[in-house]
Amino acid sequence: MALVTTTEMFKKAYDGGYAVGAFNVNNMEIVQAITEAAGELNSPIILQVSAGARKYANHTYLVKLVEAALIENPNIPIALHLDHGADFDICKSCIDGGFTSVMIDGSKYPFEENIELTKKVVEYAHAHGVVVEAELGKLAGIEDDVKVSAEDSSYTQPDEVEEFVTKTGVDSLAIAIGTSHGAYKFKPGTKPQLRFDILHEIEKRIPGFPIVLHGASSVPQEYVKIINANGGALKDAIGVPEDQLREAARSAVCKINIDSDLRLGLTAGVREVLFKDPSIFDPRDYLKVGRANVKAVVAHKIKDVLGSENKA
Ligand code: G3H
Ligand code: 13P
Ligand code: ZN
Repeated sequence: MALVTTTEMFKKAYDGGYAVGAFNVNNMEIVQAITEAAGELNSPIILQVSAGARKYANHTYLVKLVEAALIENPNIPIALHLDHGADFDICKSCIDGGFTSVMIDGSKYPFEENIELTKKVVEYAHAHGVVVEAELGKLAGIEDDVKVSAEDSSYTQPDEVEEFVTKTGVDSLAIAIGTSHGAYKFKPGTKPQLRFDILHEIEKRIPGFPIVLHGASSVPQEYVKIINANGGALKDAIGVPEDQLREAARSAVCKINIDSDLRLGLTAGVREVLFKDPSIFDPRDYLKVGRANVKAVVAHKIKDVLGSENKA
């Protein structure tokens, strides 16, 4: 099977009450871990690449790694998506360079400017058979060089979504309902709670339209503990409770973005091996343990959080 867009995936996910996992890829081990888990569980999957990933690994290497994963896992739908495209140029470069989906993140701009920019990307993308995700509302956290403080973050306003979707022609919409990027999402001692009231209000305004949740890592405490027990220093790392993500997946949320949990799994594996045996210097000895953790994280998400097992 060739790379697919997310159109069919989202339609099935919306109707079936589950979500498709969008996992960030930066190297071979991560691509292998995600697609092996998805292949074994017969799940559709979205592999997403940030600007930072393209800078780190190079566009061509990432595309070719994903093409290799397609050959190894011919029976599952795989989409290749640009995560947080900051401007038209990076979206164009990914559309021209083999991606099937791009995100134009105009959430930092005023409403009308976000519409203009998104519309321009949509026109180019659709003319080339590629789908587009946009964002309304601001998540707290760090993406590449852009840091949004909790005070500057803002929930998506439901009364803006219909106009935005109609005027831009966009294919899916990322919303801000209390998730944030990174491993430090909530203050210690507070009870994390997503704003399902806002989500349901948005669903009512744009029925049938696929919603995306960014910043949806749950920060597995078993990996935080392993990291800290093996020379790491992750204090008060807290994520989104998985039962709330499960609830979101049953709604109009069709795509759930997870990166930090993969980073934690990989780092826990590498730290454990190197800390226990400082004589090890063959990268395969520690990367294979990190890769196995990433695969276990993805399998758990597919089965227990997203509900996308056997939906390929
Ligand atoms: O949304 C952010 C993703 O975790 C990607 O992170 O920009 O550091 O590659 P990155
Ligand atoms: P996390 O940092 O919660 O994994 O979010 C990833 C993300 O939203 C990528 O766009
Ligand atoms: Zn994101």
